Amino acid sequence: MEQEANKSNSASSFYDSFKDARDKLKNEVPDDRSRYVRMETREDKSAITGEAFQAIKKGKCLTEWQGIIMWKDPLSITIYQSMLWELKPATIIEIGAFRGGSALWLADHVTTFGLKSRVISSDIDLSNLDPKVKQNDIITFIQGDIYKIDEVFPESLLESLPHPWMIIEDSHENVAGQLEYFYKYMVTGDYFVAEDTHHDTIAESSADGGLIHKPNWGPEKMKVLREFCKKHPGDLLVDTRYNDMFGYNGTWNMNGFLRKM
Ligand SMILES: C[S@@+](CC[C@H](N)C(=O)[O-])C[C@H]1O[C@@H](n2cnc3c(N)ncnc32)[C@H](O)[C@@H]1O
Repeated sequence: MEQEANKSNSASSFYDSFKDARDKLKNEVPDDRSRYVRMETREDKSAITGEAFQAIKKGKCLTEWQGIIMWKDPLSITIYQSMLWELKPATIIEIGAFRGGSALWLADHVTTFGLKSRVISSDIDLSNLDPKVKQNDIITFIQGDIYKIDEVFPESLLESLPHPWMIIEDSHENVAGQLEYFYKYMVTGDYFVAEDTHHDTIAESSADGGLIHKPNWGPEKMKVLREFCKKHPGDLLVDTRYNDMFGYNGTWNMNGFLRKM
């Protein structure tokens, strides 16, 4: 009996000390007034050092969801699930479907969360899609070249999609054009997430699912974000709660979680 009581005391003191530590950490999380900051205040540096980046990258390439390739790093996956819960997006727009693994991951999460969200996932070539994802009834796949964005996402479609939106840019093509175009239809509270802006990102998929190596990949995409934010000062702000959840820019998506204000 005494033993049982001691056991439960030690369990509760473990919980209490864990809770104290967690509460302290929670106090460090930027609140709603301070979490959104201008791009020009952000540095192009990341808590993920070159060595850690290379090690995690291996696992990123091996990551699957329900047996389907999903090219996401583990830190961003955790950030995304926090975002989905907090934002409760009515519409998720993904540019770059590839095998459809990430679209399925998004669809499964919103379903688990009891949301009525729709996922619209686009790619220049949908022949790479895994047959399993085509069965999912909350995902709509659209084939088209994002350089012709007004054909892939015509005004009539965008105007019919309920907000809030979570746009995930993972094609790495026409990023400036995407920002300019989607921005016109975004409303306060919508997000545009630019993936793979970390300065060590050097290779990405091509339209045929192969890899293209570009030594300056991440920094080039980062530059596009900076130029857009300079042109539209204060309109898209970096959400530091997400960007810095795992240390300063502790994500592949350096300064890439952008909220429309
Ligand atoms: C990095 S993969 C997407 C990975 C996927 N989101 C995931 O996490 O598993 C990039 C995709 O962008 C697509 N893509 C490349 N150029 C494109 C373009 N001009 N328009 C639309 N999609 C394009 C490629 O076909 C490829 O499937």
